[in-house]
Amino acid sequence: MRSESEVLFEDNPFSIPVADRVRRLPPYLFGTINKRKYQLRVAGVDVIDLGMGNPTDPPDQQIVQKIEESLADPRNHRYSVSNGIGNLRKEVAARYMKRYGVRLDANDEVLACLGSKEGFSHMCLAMMGPGDTAIVPAPSFPIHVYSVMLASGNVIALDVRDPEKFLRNIAYTCEHLVPKPKLVVVNFPHNPSSTVVEQDFFVELVRLAKKHHFLVISDFAYADVCFDGYKAPSFLSTPGALDVGIELTSMSKSYSMAGWRIGFCCGNREMVRALATIKGYYDYGIFQPIQIAAIVAMRHCDHAIDEMATEYQSRRDALCDGLRRIGWNPIVPKAGMFVWTEIPEPWRKMGSIDFAMKLLNEGGVAVSPGRGFGPEGEGFLRLAIVENSQRLRQAVRQIDRCLSVGSSDRAETTSPDAA
Ligand SMILES: Cc1ncc(COP(=O)(O)O)c(C=O)c1O
Repeated sequence: MRSESEVLFEDNPFSIPVADRVRRLPPYLFGTINKRKYQLRVAGVDVIDLGMGNPTDPPDQQIVQKIEESLADPRNHRYSVSNGIGNLRKEVAARYMKRYGVRLDANDEVLACLGSKEGFSHMCLAMMGPGDTAIVPAPSFPIHVYSVMLASGNVIALDVRDPEKFLRNIAYTCEHLVPKPKLVVVNFPHNPSSTVVEQDFFVELVRLAKKHHFLVISDFAYADVCFDGYKAPSFLSTPGALDVGIELTSMSKSYSMAGWRIGFCCGNREMVRALATIKGYYDYGIFQPIQIAAIVAMRHCDHAIDEMATEYQSRRDALCDGLRRIGWNPIVPKAGMFVWTEIPEPWRKMGSIDFAMKLLNEGGVAVSPGRGFGPEGEGFLRLAIVENSQRLRQAVRQIDRCLSVGSSDRAETTSPDAA
């Protein structure tokens, strides 16, 4: 019988002549887990879903009220502008000034995107082509790899968990690769490992970018989800950053607006213009009521960001404390929406995909296997802190129970949390 991991890696089943760029993509690694999650739910199992960084909390009421109001205005139902309406871009520029001291020209250095993921993907299409190489962080948020591949570029994935070593490896790659990498992708706070950096990281990155003539995309999706007083630095607030790169921000996590699909690309005006050019062909902009409500969010709802971060911090503590009580050794994140943890020794050899399947089938808890983020993620799991603390504690109990079955000594050391 084939293991779950073999099933997950089987060939894409196209019987029509789809384009090579589609055929070359590996099967979606989380697809089988998602399918199983759905089957269990249909069968009435209350799956605790820590698989995806998809916020379960609603946006602030003021934001919801504003979109309702805007919906009632017939002028807001036409195509919008693909760059984003002027007042929205001005609000983003004002926010960068207020939070990071970065002066942006709202006309040429700010662009609205249908979520930062869309901005990232189309920016890769705008910058990369055959023969171009991008350095991306590993373990990798899949779109960082596959957007480059879809744009016909080559990927070099460098381990990001030690940021200083990551920088040294970028420098080494630039010194030895011919032609040199064209693009470096950074993502701090990092998904999935939650690695964070301080401003000096970006100072060195800008220095390297100028020396080796590469461009930078900073994926700053978790800018506002920071804990214990840590403040994630913006790449753009580094002197010289506007000469070499752009930064993507998102309303998805900061304001719990993931389904709304709104984010921003800011920074180097040539890169912004290249993305605007692609988007001018591909889309007609974000639904205008969403843009209007996003202005209200940024103008009036900073308290919502802070409350959200406090809530995520207590969830992080609930999950990490619980996991430690059952003998795991999670890395306690300073930011982001994930706990990245090594699979405990007795089960590590199973591989992360089969282990995640076991937790789902036998424990009713969905998590993401580290292997889904590339070979560097093997041996790890990513748990999203998207459920409330009580559900997270319940998840730990269910994990403990499922792993205790058939292991008498573990059964005797059931966590103090167990019901
Ligand atoms: C690192 C990273 N970038 C981008 C995104 C997507 O954000 P958005 O909803 O703005 O497209 C995610 C979502 O999980 C993410 O983890």
